[in-house]
Amino acid sequence: MRNYFINARGRHWLLIIILLAVSAYLPYLIFGAYPIAKRVNLEQEQIEAIVEELDLPNYYELYDYESTEAEQLLEKQAFDGWEGGKCRFCHAVRKDDRDRMAPSLYKILGRPAAVSENFTYSDVLINMRENGLVWTPETIDAFISDPENFVPGNRMRVEGIKDAKTRELIINYLIRESK
Ligand code: HEC
Repeated sequence: MRNYFINARGRHWLLIIILLAVSAYLPYLIFGAYPIAKRVNLEQEQIEAIVEELDLPNYYELYDYESTEAEQLLEKQAFDGWEGGKCRFCHAVRKDDRDRMAPSLYKILGRPAAVSENFTYSDVLINMRENGLVWTPETIDAFISDPENFVPGNRMRVEGIKDAKTRELIINYLIRESK
């Protein structure tokens, strides 16, 4: 009888360890979220140095336009919605949004790839930054139309958005909301 309890307790622990391991791994597997380490990616000055060298336009001013309320609703649906990009499910957009399981897209336009705070990026995305990838309306469009092809081996687990109009709405949303 005593032996039974000792064995049963041993098995419980094993089960708990397995459950913990699975619960840490599943978000990674499904969403690409990293459970533990937070890596500081680049110091603010380093980020500014990259951007300065490239002499990019201010995309927020360049593409600024007044969208109607109906357009804004469509943009929001494309960004949030399950039929759209589901981007909201993983990404924060505004400065004061709570952190989600993916990097924040606050001020994403004109920013080098893989520099958002509090997120452990995949090495392939960091490599792309080192090779000069900067997020602009064009590169975001290319990325979300086929993430795996644009950055092979990245951890954003989403199917590409094939519909060009939906991608345009998503990017308009980012121009409007992420500044
Ligand atoms: C299932 C969760 C998930 C969804 C849905 C998702 N993303 Fe991502 N996204 C991620 C993760 C995780 C990364 C980081 C990838 C890496 O490190 O390889 C990422 C990275 C990015 C980046 C690069 C960020 C940076 O700092 O370099 C952009 C831009 C982006 N996503 C835009 C979008 C857009 C637009 C949508 C909607 C069409 C979207 N994402 C939907 C999880 C998601």
